Amino acid sequence: MSRFVLFGRSPAGESPTRPLYDTPDWIQAQPARIERALERALAQPSGGWAVLDASSRVGAPRAMEVAGRALVVWRAPDGPRAAPEACPHMGASLCDGHVDDDGRVVCPWHGLALGDRPRGDWAPLPTHDDGVLTWVRLPELLAPGEAPTDAPILCERPAAFLHGVIRQEARCAPRDILANRLDPWHGVHFHPHSFLRLAVVDEGPDHITVRVVYKVLGPLAMEVDARFHCPDPRTIAMTIVAGDGLGSVVETHATPLGPGRTAVIEATLATSDRLGFPWVQRAQRLLRPLIEQRAARLWVEDCAYAERTYALREAGRLPVLRGAEAPQPPPSPAMKPRGGIE
Ligand code: FES
Ligand SMILES: [Fe+2]
Repeated sequence: MSRFVLFGRSPAGESPTRPLYDTPDWIQAQPARIERALERALAQPSGGWAVLDASSRVGAPRAMEVAGRALVVWRAPDGPRAAPEACPHMGASLCDGHVDDDGRVVCPWHGLALGDRPRGDWAPLPTHDDGVLTWVRLPELLAPGEAPTDAPILCERPAAFLHGVIRQEARCAPRDILANRLDPWHGVHFHPHSFLRLAVVDEGPDHITVRVVYKVLGPLAMEVDARFHCPDPRTIAMTIVAGDGLGSVVETHATPLGPGRTAVIEATLATSDRLGFPWVQRAQRLLRPLIEQRAARLWVEDCAYAERTYALREAGRLPVLRGAEAPQPPPSPAMKPRGGIE
């Protein structure tokens, strides 16, 4: 195997952190352990919110589907709007309409202008623009007995960042997207083009922290500590908690489209306390495609993973080892010293 060279700050600091476990990844990746974390995530409130797409992609009227509802989404001068896609007059698709100077969508058939006031059964839905992503609130997204909230539950983001957002659709349920990310142990095996080494260094009921070495360019690789947690039942966030890029966040949102169909919307918000970062931010337009290409490549593979899990579960064919608890592995010796990886 070729040799890679680590650069950047060590996440370990002066006293190296030991990985919690020293057993093969397939033993650490216990299905019951992943499902426990998943059930805790799914039990959290969402306030009825789900992500539609990057805010920069909300403009002219556009057809979108959320929780089986056909929506039209557009941008008005005061922010994003979302509403039923069919015109309340005779059912024309408002996605074929245009936006007037007052930010109302104008029906292409007879010119009815629809804005923030209900018309018959037609009523606009609450939306939220968090500066990177646009969200919609639907009653169908609330758990039984759950109250809607004025705004979505957002995870902590860096103050200054450059970002990219990807959106992909997968034939699975939102839970399969979260479950994929709650299994960090597949990273090195399933994405060998991106990850070189991964070890769990901290774990609690609602988070898991991994020390991961990822490829940056050519033989150069970086090592960081990344913490995964779920701020709501359709989001898993990865935050860099040690090493270069401290505070950077990758938010993965799983929005239900309809039965067995989910949109994955992933926002990468990269930050750095290095002196040159403001200059890097100015190159955002050049760097954003690179951020998005990298995320999209991983999600092509991870959607395949999630789709397979979904298909097996739907067919009642999940493997027999599922649910079998492997014994809790003992603590291992300290991690290898830095300087290169065979
Ligand atoms: S169908 Fe929309 S105005 Fe008539
Ligand atoms: Fe993955």
